[in-house]
Amino acid sequence: MISKTITLRIDPANPDSESVAQAGRLLREGGTVAFPTETVYGLGANACDHAAVQRIFEAKGRPTDNPLIVHIADRAQLDPLVLPYSGIARRLMDRFWPGPLTLVLPVRPGVVSPHVTAGLDTVAVRLPAHPVALAVIAAAGCPVAAPSANSSGRPSPTEVSHVLDDLDGRIDAVIDGGAAGVGLESTVVEIIDGGSALRILRPGGVTAEDLREVVPRIEYDEVAAPGQSASTAREAAPAAAAAPDAGRIADIGPAILLPGGRLAHSAPRSPGMKYAHYAPRGIMELVQGEPAAASAYIQGEVRTARARGERTGVLVFTEHAHLYDADHIAVVGSLAHLETAAQGLYAALRSFDDNGVQRIWAESCPEQGIGHAFMNRVAKAAAHLIVRV
Ligand code: TXA
Ligand code: MG
Repeated sequence: MISKTITLRIDPANPDSESVAQAGRLLREGGTVAFPTETVYGLGANACDHAAVQRIFEAKGRPTDNPLIVHIADRAQLDPLVLPYSGIARRLMDRFWPGPLTLVLPVRPGVVSPHVTAGLDTVAVRLPAHPVALAVIAAAGCPVAAPSANSSGRPSPTEVSHVLDDLDGRIDAVIDGGAAGVGLESTVVEIIDGGSALRILRPGGVTAEDLREVVPRIEYDEVAAPGQSASTAREAAPAAAAAPDAGRIADIGPAILLPGGRLAHSAPRSPGMKYAHYAPRGIMELVQGEPAAASAYIQGEVRTARARGERTGVLVFTEHAHLYDADHIAVVGSLAHLETAAQGLYAALRSFDDNGVQRIWAESCPEQGIGHAFMNRVAKAAAHLIVRV
């Protein structure tokens, strides 16, 4: 068991250093190293080393049925990992790599640890656009499996302090390379229908609008579709009388709020859906509807919860911040600059925990561009506890 996590500083503007060599050595020799990428911080291990990959799952407390993304520093590292793939995949790589796009491709048997693929016949691969990530993977000289560097279920880390909050003492090293870029994880896609269409499995930094420039026909996995949160929303119950199950919502399926504040859980539709993701410890509700109606509803709920003695929080856009009076107001950014709001989302979600908030309400934004990935993450953080006003 690891007890001391070392911190290595690497300057993204000038990554070549002894620290890069040290991080590469640690990875090659079976260690776990967290590093910044242009999306979020990842927790890396040698993808071909079974024991090393297992350490990732142990450090994060990650369920073993959830496969990992393999990170490469160079297209030359791809062919040994995968079987021949379609022309569409090649065009997507040409257009979006390096960058926040993960491609699910047919895996070449026996190369990466079976823990990486969770027994699937595909492997998810990405070539990140971050100088520190690229330098460290190149120094390791092996493909690097890397999920987000958070404890399973918590918001992904966008700063080195987030990594240490969750994993200090559980991993060999963390690289401090400044704030991550996009702030939300990469877009995950698979190629379908013999290479004529794409399916988005997880929305992210490369938007559907971007992808359509290369592949006109795009489908969505059920859990990744725009409006997917709307389809699970329930009409607001008249003033919930009691708090939903107190404490942290974890490892549950999509939940809906019933009158009286009780939670109902429907059966999970896919393994990944078993788990609450990106979630603060408090119980969070996503509120949809016209801004004026949403803020009036939220403020009413906040008052009721405070009267019960609960610590309250709201996740809001700059334009509406003045409308609220709660114990903790996390202003995520402007509706006019959703890219910036995305960068701050996970830090805002973590700030509720830092302030001991027990009940949280979140505003909605339009599901266009990065707004699609933003709302996908907020809906998951709320464990699909969604109310329409
Ligand atoms: O931006 C990112 O993608 C970050 C940084 C560190 O690169 N990584 C990341 O990894 O978000 P993780 O493990 O938190 O999310 C990986 C996602 C999961 O939803 C997983 O189910 C999916 O990718 N995935 C991995 N391999 C897959 C496969 N073979 N088929 C389908 N989905 C896969
Ligand atoms: Mg993750």
